[in-house]
Amino acid sequence: MDQQEIFTRFSPDRTNLLAILHALQDNHPQNYLTEESLRAAASYSGVNLSWVYGVAGYYSMFSLEPRGRYIIRVCNSPVCNMMGSAGLIEALGSVLGIGAGETTPDGLFTLEEAECLGICDVAPAMMVNRRVYGNLTRKSLESVLKEFRMMQNERK
Ligand code: FES
Repeated sequence: MDQQEIFTRFSPDRTNLLAILHALQDNHPQNYLTEESLRAAASYSGVNLSWVYGVAGYYSMFSLEPRGRYIIRVCNSPVCNMMGSAGLIEALGSVLGIGAGETTPDGLFTLEEAECLGICDVAPAMMVNRRVYGNLTRKSLESVLKEFRMMQNERK
């Protein structure tokens, strides 16, 4: 989908800026906001570019740097931490061969630590792009990674 197709889904209004930025980022294979997309979003929404940069920089969901196709965001806030999220982050890092904030060499996964995802009742929890996973164990992490690898193979 090109940028113009994305913009047609939203009215040209500053109140749609967050939704537009999410859509632009989701549409990029490297899951980030390019300078070109920020400029286009500013122009379409009728706000200045520095304001758009401010918004994109404020929210941790947005990235101005290339990332993997799938962003694994493991909650490490207190409830999830008490339920073992630090160990899960370590296990994921070990399986993927990367640390938090890094991307696998094949460009498939980026591992990030996140603040509370708002689903503490199923701690420990994580999101992979927009999908939510709870009650995680090391075993279920392997299933999730397998699911996304299979999805990637189907895209080829
Ligand atoms: S503390 Fe992890 S989802 Fe709330």
